[in-house]
Amino acid sequence: MAMRSKLVAGNWKMHGELVQNQDLLKRIMLETAEPGEVDIAVCVPYPYLPQAQSVLRNSHVFWGAQNVSQHEKGAYTGEISTAMLADFGCRFVIVGHSERRALYGEDNRTVALKFKAAQAAGLMPILCVGETLDQREAAVTEQVVAEQLDAVIELAGAEALGKAILAYEPVWAIGTGKTATPQQAQEMHGFIRDRIAVSNPQVARELRILYGGSVKAGNAAELFAMPDIDGGLIGGASLIADEFISICRAAKN
Ligand code: PGA
Repeated sequence: MAMRSKLVAGNWKMHGELVQNQDLLKRIMLETAEPGEVDIAVCVPYPYLPQAQSVLRNSHVFWGAQNVSQHEKGAYTGEISTAMLADFGCRFVIVGHSERRALYGEDNRTVALKFKAAQAAGLMPILCVGETLDQREAAVTEQVVAEQLDAVIELAGAEALGKAILAYEPVWAIGTGKTATPQQAQEMHGFIRDRIAVSNPQVARELRILYGGSVKAGNAAELFAMPDIDGGLIGGASLIADEFISICRAAKN
């Protein structure tokens, strides 16, 4: 377990503006620099990738995108390829965020294709899984998450998860201020790790599983203290320098 260093990744979603970004990126870079075992990343909107690259290059902070095309190149107007992300120094790309699934029709198969394409370009996918409130109330949480995971395992193989990050994000906790309790989150993180262990125990042991959904400075430490929670995917709080920096610090303890 000690071999899994924590990761805190910001998901800016469709927020940002050049002048404010500059301040936010610089503060994250400067104020999380003290030694400690945590990886830090920001996933920014595409147009701000060059800005993230120029501020963060040669620092300890990684950057990445929030989505990517499953296609390599070609006539896909408005899409962004994995090679383009690699061109701008991205280390990470979020795939299968619940907002992409719910609002842009991304199904398990599409997400799996994006996952595979990202790895083929040397990017590390942050694969998001999680149930809606209806699904939780219908007691199908495990089934839903298992299907989301299995689609990727079937297409890419369980070993592929060895070069990926997982994020468990219950949809009812995203942007709602309703965080899963540490126990609720741990239960699902344990479930996910056990399910992967069936295919590949070593990959399961080493895989970092982030929790996402209303993580804030005030609740990060108790979530990160759970044995199978290896950091966080942070939406709203990643836009506020003080909050995000505190969350990164909580992951160091
Ligand atoms: P939130 O978003 O922290 O604003 O709840 C998390 C996410 O959607 O990744």
